[in-house]
Amino acid sequence: MTSAAVNRPAGGAPAAEALGPASAALRDLPRCAIGVDVGGTGIKGGIVDLEAGDLISKRVRFDTPQPATPEAVRDTVDRVLQKLASHPECPAEEQLAVGVTFPAIVIDNVVLSAANIDPSWIDCDAGQLLSALPGRTACLNDADAAGLAEARYGAGDGKSGTIMMITLGTGVGSALVHDGVLVPNSELGHVELDGVVAETVFSARARERNQQPWDEYGKGLARYLAHLWRIQPVSQFIIGGGISTRADDFLPYVTGLRAEVSVAKFQKNAGIVGAALFAAEQAQAAGLRE
Ligand code: BGC
Repeated sequence: MTSAAVNRPAGGAPAAEALGPASAALRDLPRCAIGVDVGGTGIKGGIVDLEAGDLISKRVRFDTPQPATPEAVRDTVDRVLQKLASHPECPAEEQLAVGVTFPAIVIDNVVLSAANIDPSWIDCDAGQLLSALPGRTACLNDADAAGLAEARYGAGDGKSGTIMMITLGTGVGSALVHDGVLVPNSELGHVELDGVVAETVFSARARERNQQPWDEYGKGLARYLAHLWRIQPVSQFIIGGGISTRADDFLPYVTGLRAEVSVAKFQKNAGIVGAALFAAEQAQAAGLRE
């Protein structure tokens, strides 16, 4: 991984002073934190080295319980944490930060939407729900976690300005990161293009369902990104989610944009890495306020 003059000191965690005023007080993050990614089919977690932005444990995965009610998901997150606790590098409970992602709007740890999860999550205080589990928990949107990971350690590493990550999977998620600082819950998969909600056309699931050829999909995606650029001009788009493994098939058709278009570096671990970083920073900020 390259070190960056802009938002990363050589070989270290993101430079707090380079991340804008919101993070200016954040230094000396713990070496490790846990990230847990709650998805529609699997709940995945790992211990993340926050300097390298990489997993130092095995990736633990359990099937998402069905129905994925808050209590059932909490119990599965607990199983993930229990499995990781035996790892020699797992931080002690009092120093442990745990980030948990949801495919939903999350404000102050409260889940406020449920496009791709059980509707019983709406208005659930996930922070409260998970408070009995080990560590200090912080919850965030799944695409936001992925965007944070990419901006700090991945395809956006070293880039200043505003980055927009778009995740193309079961749904379409988005993350906006400005100079390393996340602007959460942008939810740009729900923007309309030609009177249709983008997610219903550009998700990996929609492409498969429509058996759309890659060239057509790529050209459509270019129009969608151009539309998003008019709403929020950015200097870089990062394309992630399951479909990014097929970038060679559609990216040649994503042209004519006034921003660089990159493929995500992290594949399935982006959410875990970003969640761990988010939780460590939140714990740090809370510690500074106490
Ligand atoms: C949800 C977003 C989520 C995205 C990707 C969308 O349906 O509204 O919150 O980030 O799917 O999972």
